[in-house]
Amino acid sequence: MHARAVVATTTALLGTAALLLPGSDARAGAEPPTVIAHRGASAYAPENTLAAVDKAAELGISWVENDVQRTKDGKLVVLHDDNLKRTTDVEQVFPDRAPWKVKDFTAAEIARLDAGGWFSPVYADARVPTLEQFMDRVELHHQNLLLEIKNPDLYPGIERQTLKVLDKAGWLDPHHLAGRLIVQSFSVDSTRTVHKLKPAVKTGFLGTPPTADLAGYATFADQINPSYGSISRSYVASVHAFTGPHGRPLEVFTWTVNDADTARLVAGYGVDGIITNNPDVVRDAVSEDAGPAQERTSAPVALSVAGRTVGAWTAMGSTSSRSRGPSSVPTSVH
Ligand code: G3P
Ligand code: CA
Repeated sequence: MHARAVVATTTALLGTAALLLPGSDARAGAEPPTVIAHRGASAYAPENTLAAVDKAAELGISWVENDVQRTKDGKLVVLHDDNLKRTTDVEQVFPDRAPWKVKDFTAAEIARLDAGGWFSPVYADARVPTLEQFMDRVELHHQNLLLEIKNPDLYPGIERQTLKVLDKAGWLDPHHLAGRLIVQSFSVDSTRTVHKLKPAVKTGFLGTPPTADLAGYATFADQINPSYGSISRSYVASVHAFTGPHGRPLEVFTWTVNDADTARLVAGYGVDGIITNNPDVVRDAVSEDAGPAQERTSAPVALSVAGRTVGAWTAMGSTSSRSRGPSSVPTSVH
């Protein structure tokens, strides 16, 4: 038998065994999941600010997540809620502008706001960053970006605009596409649009689709990123059994896991990434037996779309070493 076939057969058998053994750890012997700082290291610095990116870097975390929305005058900014109330002093600065929606303020107006004082007086000078500023800071620290397009229904065309900003900042070159950028959304349409506009970009769908629908998602999403409370070992294995649009097994980045026990639990399910406000806690929990989580990457693999090589990327987590089930033929998403 050809060596590759032997490996495939062996790993398939091992994968089956791992699924059948009650209480077995799907990640046994594999490397720990990637750790992603949710809205930056948001347990330690105000979410989605440059300070939160800096804090993640200080903790040695190489992946950060953010949320992208659009201002009244068409600039992309990094903020989670669709309004400015919770994370800025907008009610004091603009008392007559209720309900203080992001889309009703210009970028210059938003730049005046204190985006850190709500978290701690220490951060009172923090601002709502533009997407460009955020990416510049991520680049400065040589970090990687899990970019979420937030509330895309409020911002028609935000997918194309986001890609344009990414391109201008140099994030759509082969180096960044090869493992430094993922674009995700809760919106099927938005995720699919990103894939259609720029097929080489790695994409993630936020949610827990029924396993019967995963084949459809695998036509445009490289990741299925569910809340941790919605998954099980068998769900993760089901996702891994599908091959994504770039010819790689679908991955799972789960959120938002902020304690060590839950981190170990979902790592045992075999997830590829854990999105967390406490990246140091999760990193330490999942790397206790397997070495530093941020230091395990495999060699880049060819990145192809519809049979055409468009670059290369590095598989996340233990994707390169974990056994996989059979891929299925993609169908439409319901
Ligand atoms: O990245 C996953 C997570 O950010 C999704 O939820 O509401 O924090 O954007 P949310
Ligand atoms: Ca988010």
